[in-house]
Amino acid sequence: MAKRLWTATEGAPVTTTPISTPAHLLEDLEPVVAENLDRHLALAQEWHPHDYVPWSEGRDFAFLGGEDYAPEQSRLSSTAKAAMFTNLLTEDNLPSYHREIATRFGRDGAWGTWVGRWTAEENRHGVALRDYLVVTRGVDPVELERARMDYMTSGYDSGDKTALEAVAYVSFQELATRVSHRNTGKVTGDPIADKLLARIAKDENLHMVFYRNIVAAALDIAPDATMRAIADEVIGFEMPGATMAGFRRNSIIIAKAGIYDLRLHHDEVLMPVLRHWGVFERDGLGAEGEQARDDLARFLEALDTQATRFVERRAETRARVAANADQEKAARLAADIAT
Ligand SMILES: [Fe+2]
Ligand SMILES: [Fe+2]
Repeated sequence: MAKRLWTATEGAPVTTTPISTPAHLLEDLEPVVAENLDRHLALAQEWHPHDYVPWSEGRDFAFLGGEDYAPEQSRLSSTAKAAMFTNLLTEDNLPSYHREIATRFGRDGAWGTWVGRWTAEENRHGVALRDYLVVTRGVDPVELERARMDYMTSGYDSGDKTALEAVAYVSFQELATRVSHRNTGKVTGDPIADKLLARIAKDENLHMVFYRNIVAAALDIAPDATMRAIADEVIGFEMPGATMAGFRRNSIIIAKAGIYDLRLHHDEVLMPVLRHWGVFERDGLGAEGEQARDDLARFLEALDTQATRFVERRAETRARVAANADQEKAARLAADIAT
């Protein structure tokens, strides 16, 4: 099925035809999956959500005779709240992601074992973040629960991705999640949240490595189809939370704060993975693979320009806000001296 993708270069849709996943590719990749599953299990360290929650700060809500949430109880800034809220809801939609990957990769053999293990690890992220936020009264638990109900009810649907596209997409998405959790930790101003988010980010990195290694093997087995899948997933990339309540507003807050923005997306997510695959140095591509690589290069160039523009605009806005704050401070000081 043809796909319409928006390119940053022309600002107009281009139509590409994904090359369908070659027959037996999943079977051919099975030994690589088994090897990387073993690698993952050897490297993944056990950790427990309860260790990262300051339970002594917890108290009852009104339903049990205590006090309900009020914004002043939260020690998080509005930026940290928006980022934590978005990160948790993204983790919450796990049943949809499980369905997405279980459908693509199947439930047999090493693929199936990976799907189960990955799901169990991801669930830990949602558990830990929710416990932390509810106990510390970091965000409004009613708003959070309503948003979870809405988001999970509508679910996440990646569209008609092939298995190859799915594995290329998650390579980038896991790394994007890692960057986002890590930088959210930094803006919380709370050493406990920072530690928790750094721990989760470590998991996301291992997930990325797993998927990245599968795609590397797919590039050797089916170079043209894999290159097309990579190009399409980079060009059409969207975080899974895009259908979540307040996602656009929160994404802007997150980008303005430098938690996740176009520059990070280009420099710390797309490029390291593409470099690892040696995408621009590979030989042996056919005409379709070459075409996909050209599309990818054009897109990346335009994205880089957009990222530079975004960072410049953000710096200008920050300077303006700082200058206004200085002016207000000076005016207040002058008024104090005059009285
Ligand atoms: Fe996660
Ligand atoms: Fe993950």
